[in-house]
Amino acid sequence: MKETVILTHKYLPEAEARLREKYRLILVEGSGLTLAETMEGNRECRALISFLSEKVDRDMIDLGESLKIIANYAVGYNNIDFAYAMSKGIYVTHTPDVLTQATADLTLALILACARRIVEADEFLRQGKFTGWQAALMLGKELNGSTLGIIGMGRIGLATALRARGFGLKIIYYSKPRLPEIEEQYGFVYSEFSELVKQADIVSLHIPYSPDMHHLFNREVFDLMKRDAIFINAARGPLMDEAVLAEKLEKNELFSAGLDVYESEPQVTEKLKKLKNAVLVPHIGSATHYARLQMAMMTIRSVEQALSGQTPAFLIPDWRQ
Ligand code: GLV
Ligand code: GLV
Repeated sequence: MKETVILTHKYLPEAEARLREKYRLILVEGSGLTLAETMEGNRECRALISFLSEKVDRDMIDLGESLKIIANYAVGYNNIDFAYAMSKGIYVTHTPDVLTQATADLTLALILACARRIVEADEFLRQGKFTGWQAALMLGKELNGSTLGIIGMGRIGLATALRARGFGLKIIYYSKPRLPEIEEQYGFVYSEFSELVKQADIVSLHIPYSPDMHHLFNREVFDLMKRDAIFINAARGPLMDEAVLAEKLEKNELFSAGLDVYESEPQVTEKLKKLKNAVLVPHIGSATHYARLQMAMMTIRSVEQALSGQTPAFLIPDWRQ
């Protein structure tokens, strides 16, 4: 008999087909049931493939009496109570690396859209306001010679910095621990956190979320930023106080912000949606066909490994600690 695998959201068809070949696949999306109800109805389930939007807390984990693995379709895994899963001997895996380049591309897209007011300019034209060339129309910020402050020089932070260097941006970074080999290899300059926030013309977040990082960007920190700086968040929404950010943008105490993530996704602070100096996209950092297919295949490989008695290759880093 095929083992049962629960998948919370639809996959790309080719990935879903591979799952169906080997397992009895239960898809939550479109079933009219919640994940908890689906887990309750399938106690024999051996693997759960979860998306970021799905909170996999203690209660959920306890419903999975026969669970061997929770494979998260994301590099981040703050949606899972992984400590509890580990305490029950359930593997937790994620999908690093394959989405690094796509997410760095999206970060650059946000930086460029903010600096050159692309969304605002597009809307201006569509509204029929383009009546002739003007020397002072839609003036933006020059990237060449500006300073990009990267918070978190992991894979995505580094891939972003390497792209940004091509635009003539000077790179400073804050990361724990400090990374001397990256400084030596690329010439990026380490800066203490508040110094970076004060000096950078663009601040971009590339750290995972954990509760101790909640509202890392609170009012006090936003107040340290230059008044004409750009704030970019393609990492996790709760790293910033979204209401404070909206207020700063409204008062033009920042040049603009580019966001891919929000504090309470899919809700977005109403005020932000009304501001011309906010570029808002719906958590599409890894949304290329290539990255999403690779991510799916990694979750499937993890499930296959766990259910055939092997240790999955893509265990979350916390697992090894
Ligand atoms: C996306 O946000 C991810 O963590 O993969
Ligand atoms: C994400 O996984 C990163 O390392 O930046």
